[in-house]
Amino acid sequence: MSHMIAPSLLAADFAHLGRDVAMVERSQADWHHIDVMDGMFVPNISYGMPVISAIARHAEKPLDVHLMIENPDRYIQAFADLGSANLTVHVEACTHLHRTLGAIKEAGMKAGVALNPHTPLHSIEEVLLDLDVVCLMSVNPGFGGQKFIPSTLGKVRRLADMRKAHGGTFLIEVDGGVGRKNAGDLVQAGADVLVAGSSVFKAENPEGEVEWLKSSAILSETAQ
Ligand code: DX5
Ligand code: ZN
Repeated sequence: MSHMIAPSLLAADFAHLGRDVAMVERSQADWHHIDVMDGMFVPNISYGMPVISAIARHAEKPLDVHLMIENPDRYIQAFADLGSANLTVHVEACTHLHRTLGAIKEAGMKAGVALNPHTPLHSIEEVLLDLDVVCLMSVNPGFGGQKFIPSTLGKVRRLADMRKAHGGTFLIEVDGGVGRKNAGDLVQAGADVLVAGSSVFKAENPEGEVEWLKSSAILSETAQ
């Protein structure tokens, strides 16, 4: 399977959201990545239900919703009703992660868990078989446009090894500071989904940038 690209709408121009959602739809991107922040789990507040429901009306591609919020259980049904395909919660925000993952699936969505850069992989070892997506944060969550943390590469490799050893089927997603400089290495390390905000939306040609990340990322890696 070739890797997937999920442009993060956090970096879109919110005054032209329809235009930017249409760009993602036209492009070779696979998912819309939607970052929800509550000003508690992370210092920033992004956007909520009314905005996401407007996005959903214009999106055919799956919505990959990343909840950076405390006690995400409160909103599982609401995100299912909005039409989210994937719902990713933070392991650091879930006291009863196993129950939360079950509730996400029960509501008809794929269950994802995100790990902050400092959070060790063993924190999800007991739920590996319950997961559809593992999102490794390659920046401290809360803001777009931050610098990629290089130790993520080794973490991706170790997670791919863990998946093999345990027979899990989850996708490995990497989120934060992803762009031309690291996309090839990440795919080589075992990443299945690259989330890209600034590198796509701040590019001169966002659609072309998605295409590069989707295809040339591999070529540039093999050419090295
Ligand atoms: C960070 C978010 C990311 C962010 C990525 O808290 O989870 O999805 O939008 O943006 P870039 O690609 O600009 O780092
Ligand atoms: Zn995200």
